[in-house]
Amino acid sequence: MTQQGAPFDSNAMTLTRFVLAEQKKFKHATGDLSQLLNCIQTAVKAVSSAVRKAGIAQLHGISGDTNVQGEEVKKLDVLANELFVNMLQSSYTTCLLVSEENQNVIEIDADKRGKYIVCFDPLDGSSNIDCLVSIGSIFSIYRKISESLPTIQDALQPGNRMVAAGYALYGSATAMVVSLGNGVNGFTYDPSIGEFILTDVNMQVPKQGKIYSINEGYQYLWDDSIKKYIEAKKDPAKGKPYGARYVGSMVADVHRTIKYGGIFLYPATSQSPNGKLRLLYEGNPMAFIIEQAGGKASTGKQRILDVVPDSIHQRTPVFLGSANDVDEVLSYISN
Ligand code: AHG
Ligand code: MN
Ligand code: MN
Repeated sequence: MTQQGAPFDSNAMTLTRFVLAEQKKFKHATGDLSQLLNCIQTAVKAVSSAVRKAGIAQLHGISGDTNVQGEEVKKLDVLANELFVNMLQSSYTTCLLVSEENQNVIEIDADKRGKYIVCFDPLDGSSNIDCLVSIGSIFSIYRKISESLPTIQDALQPGNRMVAAGYALYGSATAMVVSLGNGVNGFTYDPSIGEFILTDVNMQVPKQGKIYSINEGYQYLWDDSIKKYIEAKKDPAKGKPYGARYVGSMVADVHRTIKYGGIFLYPATSQSPNGKLRLLYEGNPMAFIIEQAGGKASTGKQRILDVVPDSIHQRTPVFLGSANDVDEVLSYISN
């Protein structure tokens, strides 16, 4: 009899298998979305590997753009963008790409063109790269609406037309959280088999949380309503004060908000009237996932997903998380 090590799951639900099973629910599905999601998954695996190696480079005191051999080392956000663009281009399923790292939309060559538009932030939380704090990638997927050639209007669809969205979190483990518009599921990367395994089935944001997440250093720039709301969250006379958590990587802050509940805020400031975060590849995909998990996501004036974009890099204020917490901040804003 052979000696067995740790129990081995011979029937694990991988992300690829999950997506295929979802595809089978739609009689007319071509398999293109599955193919697209597989290519995104490959990009994420490559970024994850690069992120882990970047950590080792740090420990060895390698900084700047060259390694000890004097070879050029690409910055992680540039590398992540190249990986996403190359994988999406060669997936034969996309026609337009919007990346945080590219000023203009990327048009896919006719011989590789498919029906999907992908908006993405290849490396989110870039200020955290050099100190080894969690970072991520974010993506959203739309179907082309133009009859013939893709146009900018295809990239400027409101979030409520989204087909799928997800994010990758390069944290203490690498995880992918994905929604195809039918709930939210979380997958953890198992490096021993090189696959994402379903670990968080039908993720739900708690109705109410105990954490607020905002860059409080900008308090002097906030609107009075935000000042009052955050004051209230810290005032024992108004209930048990909330805990404060702010990673500074949206993916990490949103992931914690889904898992533990609470609210993530990036409001407008007197210096940035639309806040900092970008609608197409930060606000919208996260709003889609939060809503699919039973939470709420607002600009302070309307549902994020109902904003009709007018430019690909436009910014939006973001208030998202537990439904009760978002309702509460909105009541401060409207008063
Ligand atoms: P990116 O690294 O893609 O530019 O995004 C950084 C974003 C987001 O991840 C985070 O929530 C926010 O910037 C933090 O901004 P502040 O440093 O202003 O708090
Ligand atoms: Mn970002
Ligand atoms: Mn980024």
